[in-house]
Amino acid sequence: MYIPVDSKDRFTPLPLQGGARYRAHTNIALIKYWGKRNEALFLPETSSLSLTLDAFYTDTQVIFSPDFKEDTFYLNGQLQSKEEIAKVGRFVDLFRQKADTFLPVQVESYNHVPTAAGLASSASAFAALSMACNDALELNMEAKELSTYARRGSGSATRSLFGGFVEWHRGFEDNSESSYAEHFDPADWDIAMLVVTVNQEEKGLSSREGMELTRQTSPFYKLWPQEVEKDLEIIKEAILRQDFETMGEVAEHNAMKMHATMIAANPSFTYWQPASLEVMEHVRHLRKEGLSCYFTMDAGPNVKILCRESQAALIKDYFKQFYNEEQLIIALPGSAPHVI
Ligand code: ADP
Ligand code: DP6
Ligand code: CO
Repeated sequence: MYIPVDSKDRFTPLPLQGGARYRAHTNIALIKYWGKRNEALFLPETSSLSLTLDAFYTDTQVIFSPDFKEDTFYLNGQLQSKEEIAKVGRFVDLFRQKADTFLPVQVESYNHVPTAAGLASSASAFAALSMACNDALELNMEAKELSTYARRGSGSATRSLFGGFVEWHRGFEDNSESSYAEHFDPADWDIAMLVVTVNQEEKGLSSREGMELTRQTSPFYKLWPQEVEKDLEIIKEAILRQDFETMGEVAEHNAMKMHATMIAANPSFTYWQPASLEVMEHVRHLRKEGLSCYFTMDAGPNVKILCRESQAALIKDYFKQFYNEEQLIIALPGSAPHVI
């Protein structure tokens, strides 16, 4: 099994005060976020829309205490590098500033999703961390406001504050509060996502670097915002009338357009691997056979197949001819983050 941790996650015991532990689920965008108009504030060029997944998540505990000498950050039981600790510390500073405290933090996190493999670990990670900081420091922010904090850890984390289909609004100008996420639809109408993990290794180019390189150098990028605007309008209407085929077609096309902007970047790059193309071909074949399925891909080689929950087992069985059971995970729509 590739997921590094299981029920054996061992957190240090929570103190009576100043500590909290949350689970947040990953989300996969059907209309992608690709590019920031303001890098410092993580303000996106466009709005986006995603599906939260139950099968992949991050559990994170934070403890704020005057007994600690400095910030620490453990991921999957391992103390992280100085750079990773500083990155998490800078994010936690947003909460410390709001709470008017300088207390050091201990962050312990377990990813039930491969880290940095294009399966959105940064989304569940910063959503869980936001929930835990909000609770431990008694800030009492609601999900909408909290999503603007999660955004500043990783853009995609904005959307993991909610379950089902979620929309993240672009917002206006350099206004941080206007770029928040909100629940769009419960996704309780026969929807699933089969995740085909072709490679779970950490990517060479982070999403952050990939999108910025594209924004700065790809001549196709100037078309991206207008394509997203059109796709978003169509998919929202399709979701509301539960039109699965239109939703799938638009999502697949949107992902392909995003990947086309990368191929046209300078230097050109792609997250696709030969096996990713094979999976896409299988999906096209299954569609010809009459199954409802559409693929989407993110900043990594793994492929996510949007399908009917009622057909997910059948589609998985087909893929078992080519891939191991552990590479094939059926995810159902996931919930908003919750305390654990
Ligand atoms: P992904 O496709 O997994 O979202 P990204 O490149 O967007 O990949 O983000 C991966 C980065 O997110 C990691 O290198 C790490 O800095 C951060 N990250 C991942 N998991 C956690 C976690 N549980 N807690 C804090 N930060 C995390
Ligand atoms: C292709 O949210 O990981 O998955 O905001 O720089 O942390 P940062 O990037 P991240 O980018 C996600 C890109 C994507 C599309 C999406 O999730 O919308
Ligand atoms: Co990410």
